[in-house]
Amino acid sequence: MKNIVILISGGGSNMAAIVKAAQREGWVEKYGARVAAVISNKAEAPGLQFASAHGIVTEVLDHKAFPSREAFDAALAQLIDRYDNPGQPVLVLLAGFMRILTTGFVNRYAGRLVNIHPSLLPAFSGLHTHQRAIDAGCQVAGATVHLVTPELDHGPILAQAVVPVLSGDTADALRARVLTQEHLIYPQAIAGLLQKM
Ligand code: GAR
Repeated sequence: MKNIVILISGGGSNMAAIVKAAQREGWVEKYGARVAAVISNKAEAPGLQFASAHGIVTEVLDHKAFPSREAFDAALAQLIDRYDNPGQPVLVLLAGFMRILTTGFVNRYAGRLVNIHPSLLPAFSGLHTHQRAIDAGCQVAGATVHLVTPELDHGPILAQAVVPVLSGDTADALRARVLTQEHLIYPQAIAGLLQKM
């Protein structure tokens, strides 16, 4: 069995979309893969409740309890690696995990560390993507699923979705429109990846 570990910091709606798709599409039977654990760096992340309610192991690793980024990432890797199975290294999905990861961590999971970012990369890496797209006068916005490489919000693109920016859009309105698409492309991209693994 290939284990999938999902890292979150907040609402976890992308994580929930992946869990639901895995159940609906029978990822265990189809790909021999299951969402084994959800790890949050914030104890109050609402997504943890959804995961528990769906019988998924949840863990909290508070980054504030560690003296450095390196120490936090080392502890995180230790937690994640418990889900390695012989010949089946764990697949790690960032789903609204709002921490910058060290190069050491990223390289350890090369090719099996995936992120979703709420913009059409390479445009608008970093934060406040929706407001920046509106301010730039973009007519379209969207989301990108990509493999994670050491450079922030770069790495091979696995999937993208495009939505219109409407006149009078606020960042929140655009965020909601983009998020609906995120919930479709993230599970699809992971299913595609599992098919090739
Ligand atoms: C999503 O829009 C995701 O693309 C974004 O955070 C949100 C998390 O929502 N991620 C980033 O901004 C990463 N740089 P969710 O917790 O409901 O899935």
